[in-house]
Amino acid sequence: MKILLIGKNGQVGWELQRSLATLGELVAVDFFDKELCGDLTNPQGIAQTIRQVKPDVVVNAAAHTAVDKAESERELSQLLNADSVEVIAKETAKLGALLIHYSTDYVFNGGGEHYRLEDEQPAPLNVYGETKLAGEIAVATYNPRHFIFRTSWVYATRGANFAKTMLRLAKEKDALSIINDQHGAPTGAELLADATAIAIRAESNNKSLYGTYHLVASGETTWYDYAQYVFSVARELGETLAIKEVNGVDTSAYPTPAKRPQNSRLSNLKFQTAFATTLPDWKVGVQRVVTEILGK
Ligand SMILES: NC(=O)c1ccc[n+]([C@@H]2O[C@H](COP(=O)([O-])OP(=O)(O)OC[C@H]3O[C@@H](n4cnc5c(N)ncnc54)[C@H](OP(=O)(O)O)[C@@H]3O)[C@@H](O)[C@H]2O)c1
Repeated sequence: MKILLIGKNGQVGWELQRSLATLGELVAVDFFDKELCGDLTNPQGIAQTIRQVKPDVVVNAAAHTAVDKAESERELSQLLNADSVEVIAKETAKLGALLIHYSTDYVFNGGGEHYRLEDEQPAPLNVYGETKLAGEIAVATYNPRHFIFRTSWVYATRGANFAKTMLRLAKEKDALSIINDQHGAPTGAELLADATAIAIRAESNNKSLYGTYHLVASGETTWYDYAQYVFSVARELGETLAIKEVNGVDTSAYPTPAKRPQNSRLSNLKFQTAFATTLPDWKVGVQRVVTEILGK
């Protein structure tokens, strides 16, 4: 099996380099590569790469993920998250290749308090969510042989993310205010990468699995409780933190250019059932990543 990975150096892309390597021949590209174009601002270059590599599977882990910046960079966000994705979908369809693409809880408006199923009506609140939804539609329209994995609150040892920021701040400050009215599941890039490899293997024996899945860790938390958990793991590992006071605050306390959904709970039952796999509780991966980040 030949796999083309686009966006090899992002949080998820980096872990995919590890998890996909055991499945066959892996060709991994990023936007600065010279030999093969991996730059999503150059959709025709990406199309040429797909035609040249002739992969059996394309995994697209690249995206414009800067949620607040996207509000003032609509065109770039549209180009990376939707227009180039449409080209990838069309080129993979011509080859009959499987396309795996990641999307987000931000395609929803965050109403209610329930775990959302895959077929609920999307209604994005911000440009990032709108362009990611347009990318989903392009994949589903142009390549029926696809998996769209919607995930949330991604973290990894490599890259910038909430867990790392909280660990840094907890060493520098004695008080922090953290949002406690947004709910979701922190999901490790490692888990996403391993689950992607499981899905690719499953697809080779079962051609009825295509479609959209919520691929998130199990359970739910708030940013406030997530941060508190990060601090408690760090302390258990013997790390000295300056932080003494952690206050839970409403979203309104932190005005940002992009509006965020309050309910990002996604039901992951469809994925667990279809791929006969277990998606562990969010604390399992967070404990591991904090241990790794602290080098314990
Ligand atoms: N991060 C989250 O919390 C989150 C939540 C829900 C869904 N997702 C989705 O999960 C997927 C993976 O996200 P992630 O967390 O791994 O994001 P990430 O770490 O930001 O990775 C995205 C990668 O895309 C690269 N990129 C930027 N511009 C590019 C271009 N023109 N051409 C090619 N690559 C380009 C980035 O490079 P630079 O870093 O150098 O810019 C980065 O390596 C994305 O589809 C994202 O929308 C993420």
